[in-house]
Amino acid sequence: MATTLDCLMDYLFPVPFLTISIFYFALAFLKHPLLPLTNFESFKEKAFAGLWLQFGAAFAEQTPPQISTLLAQSKGVILDVGPGSGEQLHRFSQPQNITAIYGVEPGVTLHDKLRESAGEVGLGDKYHVISATADLDSILPGLVKAGLLKSNEVSAPEDLQLFDEIVCIRVLCGVPDLRSSVADLYGLLKPGGRFVVCEHVMNSKSTAANLVQRFWMLVGWKRLMGGCELTRDTLQAMLEVANEKDGGFAKVEIKQVDEHSMITHIVGVLTKK
Ligand SMILES: *[C@@H]1O[C@H](CO)[C@@H](O)[C@H](O)[C@H]1NC(C)=O
Repeated sequence: MATTLDCLMDYLFPVPFLTISIFYFALAFLKHPLLPLTNFESFKEKAFAGLWLQFGAAFAEQTPPQISTLLAQSKGVILDVGPGSGEQLHRFSQPQNITAIYGVEPGVTLHDKLRESAGEVGLGDKYHVISATADLDSILPGLVKAGLLKSNEVSAPEDLQLFDEIVCIRVLCGVPDLRSSVADLYGLLKPGGRFVVCEHVMNSKSTAANLVQRFWMLVGWKRLMGGCELTRDTLQAMLEVANEKDGGFAKVEIKQVDEHSMITHIVGVLTKK
């Protein structure tokens, strides 16, 4: 049972988080004072990357431990969505079963560290870093460049079914259009493939936590945290997309953890028909 103090600590946890983020925005501004005017997206990317390179590993440690068990079973050809600087890659603890991983990461400032992390965990020659967002239009040219696809195969991109597994760890909270990204990723998954997720989501089990999530969204969480939203019903979106596309997942093995927390996660595997 969570005590009042536990809850309070949990609800106030964004205070240091947002303070650090403001600090990194200021730092990026000092380093690149004109960039906010000339290219605001690039400025945001640099500010957030600064934060991530410093604190990404510490945040990654706070991931629900269940994800390690799931990634120890990973095999075949994998799409790793939004790997950041690769701070979660050590959880792919059986790299010998993995044929190749394509890591789709729009934060180009993180790419060097991402390659380095892949090397450290024995995925060096299997890990392909792709500069793209979680949208098909962006992913496909990257896959062509990485040699997984030929450019003529991109002309009919509906349901290419390329991957045995798609991994999303705290990334669907921040994609600009959740349903559209989920639909794009779903089409890239092979029949029988695993959609492995570990995402923080809207807390619909605790009214207090839910109100606190809404409060932090109101005061600017999304802007300061690289587009991250605290109040998404990610599982619902995934189930709806699968239903529309082919009548739903064959198997849904999802658990919600930390149900009292404003950072409650869904963790598990959805298996495609
Ligand atoms: C991974 O490989 C090991 C042996 O190298 C094997 O025992 C294990 O069953 C494999 N795991 C999967 C999920 O295929």
